[in-house]
Parts: sequence; structure tokens; C-alpha cells
Amino acid sequence: MKYKYPVYQPNLSGNVKKYVNECIDSTWISSKGKFIKKFEDDFSEFVDIKYSAGVSNGTVALHVALLALGIGKGDEVIVPTFTYIASVNAITYTGAKPVFVDSDPITWQIDPGKIEGKITSKTKAIMVVHLYGHPCKIDSIKKIASGKNLLIIEDCAEAIGTYYKGKHVGSFGEAATFSFFGNKAITTGEGGMVCTNDPAIYDMAIRKKGQGLAKEQEYFHDIVGYNYRMTNICAAIGCAQLERIEDILKRKRKLAENYIDGIKDLSIDYHKETGNVIHSYWMFTILVNSESERTNLRKFLAENGIETRPTFHPVHTMPMYLEKESYPVAEDLGKRGINLPSYPDLTTEDVEYIIDKIKSFYDES
Ligand SMILES: Cc1ncc(COP(=O)(O)O)c(C=O)c1O
Repeated sequence: MKYKYPVYQPNLSGNVKKYVNECIDSTWISSKGKFIKKFEDDFSEFVDIKYSAGVSNGTVALHVALLALGIGKGDEVIVPTFTYIASVNAITYTGAKPVFVDSDPITWQIDPGKIEGKITSKTKAIMVVHLYGHPCKIDSIKKIASGKNLLIIEDCAEAIGTYYKGKHVGSFGEAATFSFFGNKAITTGEGGMVCTNDPAIYDMAIRKKGQGLAKEQEYFHDIVGYNYRMTNICAAIGCAQLERIEDILKRKRKLAENYIDGIKDLSIDYHKETGNVIHSYWMFTILVNSESERTNLRKFLAENGIETRPTFHPVHTMPMYLEKESYPVAEDLGKRGINLPSYPDLTTEDVEYIIDKIKSFYDES
């Protein structure tokens, strides 16, 4: 079904075509070429971090980051159950065990108060996720991690433009990852980034993403690695997108403000910016009153040309990770949330139309 208002569509204006054509004209279309280093450097500058390594998507970015931190079989990694499946799968790829924690009902992020109860002698790291573009309570988590000698990995896939106490997310832990899938604030088609301030972690990330190549010895490989490299074409798109990042984030913020204003008289909640943070509103997400209300509202909006998405099912409810333990906040958020169209080209009039339809639904029901 083709919607008048999809949940997301990237804006590929600016220098995207010019830079991609440069790759084609120069024949540098694989994982060597000038745009890769430029994109990595420009992205480091944007996040304010020392090192960035481009990879082929956000899932492998997590895999590489975990490997670079030495996480593997026998280790446990704490992770919120309310996240996209990739966060958890990446832990599993390393042989480590994901250990779930419930979410905070206000920020929707991992609940720091519930972490300590999950720490065992095998716990090696905490993977925080800044879900839907809102940062987690990173100060409290850092305190727990340093007290127990645990590493922190930030999954920032949904958090380009997200700030905590004035600082862009991604440099609070030992390593961080980003995604540039087509629905992210900036896209490279498929793509990801591993970021760190630690030269040894960066070094290992480069080797893991590049077939485990030994240093200073051509075609000699001394560790098992992967081909997780980013292409020059993807990096070219990324460079052009990054030139427009401030405008994209500004537009997304404006549409969030329009949504907030539009729904203020309705008896529905939304994913609020809480604390000294900047919520990038990767997705503008509302919380309705029940699961059945969500089903009916989504159906009504779809009939009116508006695509929506449900919030994520908590990962502990999926067959590979099924647990009897209940995570009530995550389960509740997973049942009542709706992602509304959140792309930067959505105009004030478009948001008014969407709000109008939400209001009609409640007027009629
Ligand atoms: C929280 C989170 N982590 C990881 C990923 C994985 O990124 P990718 O789709 O680029 O592999 C995503 C993707 O949407 C995500 O939302």
C-alpha cells in the first residue's frame, strides 16, 4: 500500500548525486576512496569524538564494537528489552548472553534502578540504547558501571542529534555505534559507524571490520575478522547528508513541536523530552490508552493515507529470547505506542492533516 504520508522517507537533496557520480566517474565504488575517510572525519567532528570507523550497517557496527571491547563467550551484557532486535542479536553474535532490564516509564530507556539486580560475576558490559532519539540516564549508568568495573556501549542508531547535558551521545562509554539506514536522520542507504575515544578500541574495530588484517603486513591476517566495510558510494551519500544535518534536525524538531501542540487537548501521551537533554525525535511517538485503541487508531490512520508503526515488541517476548520474567514497563510501552510520520520534509500543513485525522478518530469513537 502506498501511503500519502509514510512513516519515513529520506531527503536526498544537496550534493548526494554529485558525490555519487564522482565515485562512479572515478571508478572508486568499493571500500576504498576519498569519501570514506572524509565521512568518518566529518562524523567524528559532528559527534565530537576522536575516532569513527565506517561499516556496512548499524547491526555490524554493534558486533564490531562488542568484539573490539573483547566481549565473547561466557560474558553477560546488560541491555534493555525495549529496543530494536539488532541491539540484542549483536550481543548473541559474539557468544555472550544478553541480560534484559526493564525501561524507565518517563524516558522509555533502560531503567538505571533495575540494573544492579542483574549484575553477576559474568557481567562485562552495559549496552545502553538511546531509543527513538531520547538519551538514557547516562550519568547514573556510568556511576553503576564504574563501581562494578563494567564497560559501556552506546547504541546510538536512533540518536543522531541527541544530546545529554549539552554533549552529543556517543562519547559517554567506551564505544558507540550509529546506523545510517534509510529511515535514520542521515542515511547512506545502508551503513553504520563505530565511534570511540580509545585508540586501541578503534584499532581493533578497524581490524575486525576488515578481515582481521595484520598491521604492516600485506595480505597477512592474524585474527578472525569480517568484511563489514562501508563503500565509497555509501560514504559519498553520507558526506552530502552530513552537510545538511543541522537543517534536517531543525525540521524534525519543528514537526515534533507541531505534533505536541496539536495533541495537547487529547487524552493521549507522547515520548517527552525529559531533563537536561535534547530529544532528536527520530520518531515522534504517541502513547494511547490501550492496545485495542492502538489497533483501531492505526487502522483509521492507514485508511486516511497515514502510515504508522507500532513501538517495538520487547525482545524478551520473542522466541529466541523468550523469558518468563515480566518487564512491565517495556511490555506496556510495546503495546500502546505509535510512531507517527517523522520525516524532515513533512510540513506544518501535513502535520495539521495528521492531527486532524487523529482528532476525528477520537471524535467518532
Ligand atoms: C536501536 C537500533 N539498534 C541497531 C539498529 C541496526 O541498524 P541497521 O538497521 O543499520 O543494521 C537499529 C536499526 O534501525 C536500531 O534502531
